Formats: sequence, structure tokens, C-alpha cells
Amino acid sequence: MSVSPAVPSSSPSASASSATSNSLAAPASGFSAPTQSELLDFARRTAADAELVASLPLDPEGRTWVRLEGPGGSEAWLIGWPPGSGTGWHDHADSVGAFVTAAGELKEYSLAVRLPTDGWKTLELTDGVDRERRLPSGKGRSFGRHHVHEVLNESAEEHAISVHAYYPPLPRIRRYSRTGQVLRLEHVERPEDWQ
Ligand SMILES: [Fe+2]
Repeated sequence: MSVSPAVPSSSPSASASSATSNSLAAPASGFSAPTQSELLDFARRTAADAELVASLPLDPEGRTWVRLEGPGGSEAWLIGWPPGSGTGWHDHADSVGAFVTAAGELKEYSLAVRLPTDGWKTLELTDGVDRERRLPSGKGRSFGRHHVHEVLNESAEEHAISVHAYYPPLPRIRRYSRTGQVLRLEHVERPEDWQ
């Protein structure tokens, strides 16, 4: 599977609505970089903490979130998803990550291809790169560097809640729009945009 660049790009402006607070710091002394399975294990254990999950305020108008202390200097979040909400297509730069559904159900659509790092505005995806998975309560997944996906709560009635962890803490998020097989880089969010 390969990606054929449609048109060379120029870097877009940045904007932010969700928040992270760490740059690409080395783990605190005494910690070693958490692996994907350690992040997934953390997310599973945290998603099973009924008291913590119940403490998250939910808003029918938009996603809600609280910052958690992730393992090994990782960045972690508890996120609430109203019915029909989603992230849009995005990546996580060089960070690996994991997420687990704590309540309700999430749907992940992802690309089984590595996108070029920079220097493009639109890309044409070849057939066969799309992956999707349903993540009911208790289910989750981890992902490697350069993972591209969108996550949705496709329920028309039910909120979803999930736990996410990233290492290193997200240095930037590239956000994309998608029309058929054409992916378009819309903007890049950096930590300073949402701190
Ligand atoms: Fe993501």
C-alpha cells in the first residue's frame, strides 16, 4: 500500500480547542519510556475505575476531558463524548498511544499506511488502506508512531467515555479533512496552541 502525493504543500496556520501541556520531554528520572502495552494496561485499569469515570462531567454540547497522570511521564486524558461526536482525522506525530472505552462505545477509523512527514497539502490514498474497529466498553487498542485515525461516538443517544495515553506527550497534532480517497492537511496544532 502506498500514498501518492497529489500536490506539494505549504505549512498551514495552527488553531486549538483541546489541551495538552507537555512538550517532547524525556521521562522524569527513574522512569523508562512506557511501551504501547504499558500505556494500554494503564488505560484499561483507569477505564475500570468506576468512581473516576463517574466523576467526569458530561456535556451534551461537546466533548469534555480531564488530565490524568499517565505512566512514565506520558500524557493521559479521560474524555467524554456526547452522542454523534468525533475527533476528525488526525495523527499524533512521533508519539505512541493507547485508548480504552470506559462507557458506551467508540468507533475508530484508521489508515494502514505511513503518511509522509511534511511537504504536502493533499494526498491520494490508494484502495485498501482503511481499517475500522468497534470499541465497546472495556475494549481498547494501542498504536505506534505516526498513527492516523478518527474516533467517533456513533450512538444517537448514549454518551461514551474513554481513557487515552500518549508517549512522549503529544508534540503536535496534524488535522486532516478527507474527501473520498483524498486526504487534505488542514492545520497543525502544537502544545502552545492549547496551553
Ligand atoms: Fe487520536
